[in-house]
Amino acid sequence: MRLLVTGGAGFIGANFVQQTVLEHPDVTVTVLDALTYAGNRASLDPVAGRVNFVHGDIADLDLVDELVSGVDAVVHFAAESHNDNSLADPWPFVQTNIVGTFSLLQAVRRHEVRFHHVSTDEVYGDLEPDDAAFDETTAYNPSSPYSATKASSDLLVRAWTRSFGVRATISNCSNNYGPYQHVEKFIPRQITNLIGGVRPRLYGAGHQVRDWIHVDDHNRAVWAILERGRIGQTYLIGADGELDNKSVVRMILEAFDLDPDGFDHVTDRAGHDQRYAIDATLLRTELGWTPRYRDFRTGLAATIQWYRDNEPWWRPYKASAERAYAAAGETEINPVL
Ligand code: NAD
Ligand code: TYD
Repeated sequence: MRLLVTGGAGFIGANFVQQTVLEHPDVTVTVLDALTYAGNRASLDPVAGRVNFVHGDIADLDLVDELVSGVDAVVHFAAESHNDNSLADPWPFVQTNIVGTFSLLQAVRRHEVRFHHVSTDEVYGDLEPDDAAFDETTAYNPSSPYSATKASSDLLVRAWTRSFGVRATISNCSNNYGPYQHVEKFIPRQITNLIGGVRPRLYGAGHQVRDWIHVDDHNRAVWAILERGRIGQTYLIGADGELDNKSVVRMILEAFDLDPDGFDHVTDRAGHDQRYAIDATLLRTELGWTPRYRDFRTGLAATIQWYRDNEPWWRPYKASAERAYAAAGETEINPVL
């Protein structure tokens, strides 16, 4: 199989490419990545010489058409992916997540190429503490410019499947953690703060809940869908990993042998989603997928070790990520707990 992977220099895409080279050696991989602030060529160093890398934009219709004409399938990870950035400047999210996905859909339609669209559970909005988890029938209700543009891209994929017969599947996954995640995101930000002797930063009181899954489990689910998924079907991906943010910060501090209360509360995110949770019954029963990482503390410890061992990978990005938070007005607060 010849595979085009968009966003393969980003967090999940790079892990997907590495896993693919290791576990599917018969597959020829081409990566298309614009190397935005979130893309890092070094994330593909472990597979150097074993993948073709194309530096380009998914919204470039001619380039995308040419690349898609030479493959059997596209796995589409490329996106602007950070909520906080979408609040500061939504335009790149509209351009990449919506226009970029349109560009890919036109090409896979023209060349009759199989398409898998990687999306997020955030398209469903958020849940109250006692609500049932999201499933494939949950109505879309996005809250932020990020989740609204991802929801828009999902709807384009559904329309191209129904109207033009594009052979597409969609997956909506919960929050990922693991190696190669940008230091702007919650878990790597706190780990790299602590490596540098800086206290973790919790938005508001930290009661928000996320459903954590290891990136390798996400990517094995993507492979299961690519190989055995039903065309036109959406699959939710999650590993029953619900935790509130405060508990996660405390676990990270404990892993560093530090006082679990040694964090600061900072300005809460505008429109902050309260809770995400996934019911992955369809994926488990129909495709036989199960997560390999079942203990969050074990996966977290391995992730912390990875950041300790790979400081040259993340250090160049740390100061600018922190500058962006400061510029957005992040300051210490005393929340009502
Ligand atoms: P990321 O921000 O780490 O990586 C995105 C990659 O896309 C980068 O390499 C970047 O250079 C590239 N890119 C951005 N704009 C591009 C463009 N116009 N053309 C080509 N390449 C471009 O993101 P991630 O966390 O790896 O997320 C990957 C996908 O998974 C996204 O679609 C995201 O919505 C989805 N997702 C992420 C999570 C999560 O927890 N991170 C959870 C569920 C779904
Ligand atoms: P994030 O990694 O940005 O993912 P998402 O917004 O897609 O869920 O944030 C995860 C959670 O952690 C979210 O509730 C916001 C919170 N958070 C903090 O408390 N402190 C931080 O420094 C960051 C970046 C996020």
